[in-house]
Amino acid sequence: MSKTFLFSPGPVMVGENVRQSLTHYDICHRSPEFEELYKDTTDKINKLFKADDSYRSVIISGSGTAANETVLASIFKDGEKALLIRNGEFGNRLKQILDQYKIGYVDCSFEWGKLPDLDAVEKALAADKAVKVICMVFHETSSCMINPVKAVGDLADKYGKMFMVDCVSAAAGQDIDVVDMHITFATSVGGKCVGAYPGSAYVCARENVLKTLTPEMGRNVYLNLARHYQAAAKNNQTPNTPNVNLFWALNTALTNILDEGLDNQIARYKECARVLRDGMKELGLKFLLPEEQMSNTVTSVFLPEGDDLEEFIAKMSDAGYTVYAGKGIFYDMGMFQVANMGEIYTDDCKEFLKALEKCL
Ligand SMILES: Cc1ncc(COP(=O)(O)O)c(C=O)c1O
Repeated sequence: MSKTFLFSPGPVMVGENVRQSLTHYDICHRSPEFEELYKDTTDKINKLFKADDSYRSVIISGSGTAANETVLASIFKDGEKALLIRNGEFGNRLKQILDQYKIGYVDCSFEWGKLPDLDAVEKALAADKAVKVICMVFHETSSCMINPVKAVGDLADKYGKMFMVDCVSAAAGQDIDVVDMHITFATSVGGKCVGAYPGSAYVCARENVLKTLTPEMGRNVYLNLARHYQAAAKNNQTPNTPNVNLFWALNTALTNILDEGLDNQIARYKECARVLRDGMKELGLKFLLPEEQMSNTVTSVFLPEGDDLEEFIAKMSDAGYTVYAGKGIFYDMGMFQVANMGEIYTDDCKEFLKALEKCL
């Protein structure tokens, strides 16, 4: 149903039943039927993060950024700071949010495509008592690097800090355990590894922390975690009018994952990535990162020297495949990205490789 096969890190190929669920009969969001849908969907979101009963999820009609912004705009009192770990475009987007709301932060910035230096992070953490929350990206989509979330979570635990992790491109694609990783707030969105549509964002958070937030602490009216939590806790409602139709699609995609088994879906993603990477190596292409640092769902790879990136992407599109140009410095280096998120199987990856060979 899409013009090209989406090997892009969102939007993604969705299952037929996910698409069909968009045509569900219309319901009013102020109805028991919506409240059941909300409750069921948030319970399923908790499962993506292996959350126990001490966590509660809320759904925000908006893109992944809306989920990140909802957390960051809602949890700081005057004088409280973040400690931001960043090593790519999406770490920079967290910085942009902190800057926009004038929230103070300790900036632990590392080269794009390089793992954060955890000794430097710990030193910075120990040096500033005003830090309330550590923030980082799980899967830095711009490089495809999996960041050391568990190790940073252990630091958060050691120093008694909250931990906010942007899991936008990681949820349902990587093994995430918010309890074991000491994550206080995990954010994501339906239109990536979950295999639903963009526009349905969510936050899974520790409920004891959610209970301490007040709407007045928030710096934003709509992206206000206390408001979202209070409406959800009271009667599985949203504070404003939600994108009801997308809730059906998100719920169906989550049901698909739980039916397949979260671990089985992750194993499928790993296998698709392996097929793609083996094929690309056979074609002589070089990767940005060592394979052990890459996510299960995105491969960052360079075009042969001298080839034109835009021309290549257009050719791939004509051949029926959408791939992404690298962002920022990676674009200048002739890097492109191939994602295997959503309804993609190994046979699709083999067909993709044939097209890739022709277009190179
Ligand atoms: C890790 C990460 N964070 C945040 C975002 C922003 O999400 P959105 O474009 O849905 O607002 C993206 C988008 O690709 C992402 O990959």
